Amino acid sequence: MKKVTAFVGTARKKSTYGAVRQFLDKLHSLGDVECEIVALSDHPLGMCRGCKLCFERGEEFCPLKDDRDFLIEKIAASDGVIFASPNYSFQVSAIMKNFLDRLGFVFHRPRFFGKTFTSIVAQGIYGGGKIIKYLDFVGNGLGFNTVKGSCVKAFEPMTEYEKQKIDKALEAHSGRFYKMLGKPAYPGPAWLKLMAFRMGRTSIGLELNDASRDYRYYEEMGWFESDYYYPVRLGALKKLAGGLFDSTAARMSKKRKSRALRGEM
Ligand SMILES: Cc1cc2nc3c(=O)[nH]c(=O)nc-3n(C[C@H](O)[C@H](O)[C@H](O)COP(=O)(O)O)c2cc1C
Repeated sequence: MKKVTAFVGTARKKSTYGAVRQFLDKLHSLGDVECEIVALSDHPLGMCRGCKLCFERGEEFCPLKDDRDFLIEKIAASDGVIFASPNYSFQVSAIMKNFLDRLGFVFHRPRFFGKTFTSIVAQGIYGGGKIIKYLDFVGNGLGFNTVKGSCVKAFEPMTEYEKQKIDKALEAHSGRFYKMLGKPAYPGPAWLKLMAFRMGRTSIGLELNDASRDYRYYEEMGWFESDYYYPVRLGALKKLAGGLFDSTAARMSKKRKSRALRGEM
């Protein structure tokens, strides 16, 4: 049995919510999947004050007392996750963006490995493609295995042809997500992900110290010594490239440090 949770960032249960419902109904019909929709508007979430205590000292130092940890627990208890939002002024809704800001520290200390992620956007006319790209990038940054999301055009009223087009797109999207749910949860990294990990961990190791929560997290996770975020067998080429990414990041850190010493920063 797989557990899938959709986090929906809209104050009303119309197009976005409907598209998510349709996606999940299809998913449920494909196999043993338990689905839940979490309406973010039902949960108190404060607005980030930008103090960066979560980055520097740890998320437990956040001055906001809200449902952040309850929602993170929901993600942690899921095998698959969907972030869904209407297109508001060419971006996600403020409700969704606020949720993403509350998860900001997870981009520093990613943790949702082995889980499948996708996104759904509902819009009137234009701009949703870029929002899908953004949300999928967010999914990767949080540690998920990401399936490309889909954008539905929620015309009001809708013709039969338009409705069929949405049905077809959501059905195919749900099928792709289901397939990914059944795949090995810890795949070998794509080139870009390998590069981001190796360069990120090398600069963190050289530029921070154990006064930083990020540094301690990387240390606890064994990431200063590992090939990737989780155990994988890298082929010879990726092993070689991994070493190159490490040494490039080390050179860049050294340059940054000597510029700082010369007072150029
Ligand atoms: C404040 C606001 C801004 C919007 N901006 C856009 C936009 O930039 N592009 C677009 O295609 N639709 C835009 N729309 C239309 C919504 O994306 C569309 O109505 C969507 O279906 C709403 O989803 P919902 O039914 O789940 O609320 C906007 C709607 C609102 C209320």
